[in-house]
Amino acid sequence: MSKLRIVHVGCGSISDSWFSVLKGRKDIELVALVDIDRDNANEKKAKYGFQCEVYTDYQLAINELKPDVVIDNTIPKMHHLISTYALDNNCDVLTEKPLADTIEHALLVKKKAKETKKNVIVMQNRRYLSKLHGLKSIIDNQNVGDIDSVHASFFTEAHFGGFRDRMSNPLILEMAVHTFDQARYITGLDPVSVYCNEYNSSTSWYDGNASASCIFEMENNVIFTYNGSWTAKGNLTSWESEWRVNCNKGAAYWDGFNEPWYEIIDESEKNEAFPTKYNRSTIESPTIMEEHAGCINEMIDSLINGKKAQTDVSDNIKSLAMVMGSIMSAESHKKIYIKDIL
Ligand SMILES: NC(=O)c1ccc[n+]([C@@H]2O[C@H](COP(=O)([O-])OP(=O)(O)OC[C@H]3O[C@@H](n4cnc5c(N)ncnc54)[C@H](O)[C@@H]3O)[C@@H](O)[C@H]2O)c1
Repeated sequence: MSKLRIVHVGCGSISDSWFSVLKGRKDIELVALVDIDRDNANEKKAKYGFQCEVYTDYQLAINELKPDVVIDNTIPKMHHLISTYALDNNCDVLTEKPLADTIEHALLVKKKAKETKKNVIVMQNRRYLSKLHGLKSIIDNQNVGDIDSVHASFFTEAHFGGFRDRMSNPLILEMAVHTFDQARYITGLDPVSVYCNEYNSSTSWYDGNASASCIFEMENNVIFTYNGSWTAKGNLTSWESEWRVNCNKGAAYWDGFNEPWYEIIDESEKNEAFPTKYNRSTIESPTIMEEHAGCINEMIDSLINGKKAQTDVSDNIKSLAMVMGSIMSAESHKKIYIKDIL
């Protein structure tokens, strides 16, 4: 079988996570690296020893090289432009999150993917985590019964510099999409509505709001709450968030670092008013290919085998809708229904 010919656009910091995986695939050929800053592309070409062209204009690279696949690792406001151009030129697209910078742009990409019968698949590396799969297995195996509510906390101190410092909604658009997507993944439920309050801490170094609290109603009347900040000054959580899942027979928990566990009431507990005796069972999480490697390999395998990837635009747009609904809610101070924006 002939190799998939790939043009890779955007050679900044996250591209290392892609190149280290792409380098190991024998069924692909990287035909060009593209970056508006030629030095960035040249630096990665030398670092990974790629034998490929270097361009500064992605349209020129696509027109001249006619690749099968375009990978987009550029900044969010470019994503819909590169995706739609690639689709119009008969290419499948593998893009870094977020799918797009607005819901209108995301819907445009989804429509064009359908029209051209091509794939757009989005990087959601934080659903490819062994211990998140462990947490999901507690829910799937009904160890604690049916879900009532899910609660994620995300508190880190992040000084990236660069485009994030100037964005309007850095935490929600750049980071929370991971946590929202994880919530959909572990529950298997889609969002119904959201109310969000965005804010900036007094010492924030971000122009836009870098903290937020969101309440989602999910399918089956399940509540998902998210509390997050990129400007925490201590008591940091993992970047995968800290998770609590309250169910009708017990509760599951993952601190974001160690193996997840669940607790159910001890049968010997006599205090019905204020019980405190619970039995804890810790899960041994499955071994999986994690993070970018897990997602990129599924993306490429799905193109080769013609099987839809789990982060295909048709599904991933629901995680993005949670992001865009949150921003709309924060701006309007109103509850937003996801069906009204998708
Ligand atoms: N999945 C993750 O965990 C994760 C982590 C970090 C970043 N990201 C995402 O990856 C993307 C890039 O983030 P980054 O941290 O690498 O940013 P970055 O600023 O380090 O890199 C972006 C690169 O794109 C190039 N670029 C910008 N516009 C371009 C254009 N029109 N044509 C060609 N090249 C262009 C820039 O010159 C730069 O080299 C963002 O969408 C971000 O959300 C994802």
